[in-house]
Amino acid sequence: MKTLIIIRPDAVIRGLVGEIITRFEKHGIRIAGLKIMHLARKQAEELYKQHKGQPFYDRLIQNMTANPSVFVVLDTDVLDRESAIALVRKIIGDTDPAKAEMGTIRGDFGLRIDQNIIHASDSRESAEREIPLFFKKEELQTYKE
Ligand code: PPS
Repeated sequence: MKTLIIIRPDAVIRGLVGEIITRFEKHGIRIAGLKIMHLARKQAEELYKQHKGQPFYDRLIQNMTANPSVFVVLDTDVLDRESAIALVRKIIGDTDPAKAEMGTIRGDFGLRIDQNIIHASDSRESAEREIPLFFKKEELQTYKE
């Protein structure tokens, strides 16, 4: 199965792209799609539409549109189907960097909750909604064993 991560602008400008992608590759997770893009406001609003009305919403949209982000579709077929999303979320760590465990991406590199460095789809349904927002089918690769 495939899931989406977005290396957010705050991580891109800090030069953390390679380090973050490496964390997934070390688990045997492969890259199915990859692009760098500067999100328009409309695209950010579509991605985060379930958070509209939250006190942090405007700040979230502002951060996501401030600079380019790196979009990565991960192929998690090497992982157990049932736990793939959970493992990806575990590699990333808690949303609040102060609570995220050391050894997770957010625990190791996160500074503030309002400058989050990475987004990940939180369920299979979210991945199915989010991936087509940024990738056409023909832009995604598959691997043979
Ligand atoms: S998560 O990771 O989706 O479960 O996190 P959640 O708590 O649902 O938060 C949704 C996204 O909003 C971001 N967020 C914030 N942005 C700015 N300021 C504050 N205070 C804040 N709190 C949460 C959070 O990073 C999530 O965005 P992504 O891109 O998924 O990390």
